[in-house]
Amino acid sequence: MRAITFLCLLGATVAQYDWNGGQGTTAPHNGNSGNVCLTDSASCGCCLMQKQMYRMEAFFNLSLNVLEQDLERTAMALNNVRDSRSAFSVSLGSINKHICTNISREKTIIVYKHVFINLGGSYNTDTGIFTVSRSGVYAFALTVYSDAGSPGNSLDACASLTVNGMVVAGPSDRNLEDQEDSATVVLAQRLQAGDKVAVELPPGCYLCDNKAHYNTFTGFLLYATK
Ligand SMILES: *[C@@H]1O[C@H](CO)[C@@H](O)[C@H](O)[C@H]1NC(C)=O
Ligand SMILES: *[C@@H]1O[C@H](CO)[C@@H](O)[C@H](O)[C@H]1NC(C)=O
Repeated sequence: MRAITFLCLLGATVAQYDWNGGQGTTAPHNGNSGNVCLTDSASCGCCLMQKQMYRMEAFFNLSLNVLEQDLERTAMALNNVRDSRSAFSVSLGSINKHICTNISREKTIIVYKHVFINLGGSYNTDTGIFTVSRSGVYAFALTVYSDAGSPGNSLDACASLTVNGMVVAGPSDRNLEDQEDSATVVLAQRLQAGDKVAVELPPGCYLCDNKAHYNTFTGFLLYATK
């Protein structure tokens, strides 16, 4: 067995010299140039096959390496997407009874206590503030609703969506004619990690809710930019 292997290796050297380096005055594969193929055709066939197999193995190794690298990159990208998942949706009311906020004298942050979802935990149910954990483009939706109690009372369904304390949008519906009203804004914002998004109740506004969830505040990451 060892002898055959040795012969094969020897053949590989000879064969490589003859086949790749020869000037080709005679057909290289017909075996009349005095190489090992002449003296031992079985060994010659074995070497040809081994050379072919080695080439194929090298090719497959290379392809496998490329695929493995691609897979690693894809897995990293996927992990990145998983890690950055962020979505919250909250509402003001969660009980049967219709409860209204006090009519605000100065702007206050509305603390939405009922949580539909808080994926990533970036919405704080104690402060009402959503803190951006990952820079990216975020979508927000804010719906306000109020009930004047009876027709003719003033109705001030209004609130402000704020980023770092600056108002970016303020759905509002104020009038005296009807008893109930609601308003909605939906928008997308490019935000940086650490930015704080909250809903403020400007002076004079008040909102009412019960477990029907008329007042909702929702935000989610569309895509991360870092
Ligand atoms: C192919 O990869 C295997 C495993 O890493 C290695 O043992 C073998 O020598 C490689 N073959 C070639 C031709 O590069
Ligand atoms: C309304 O104001 C009173 C007195 O300031 C306070 O005790 C109460 O908690 C407030 N209610 C709400 C819903 O903010």
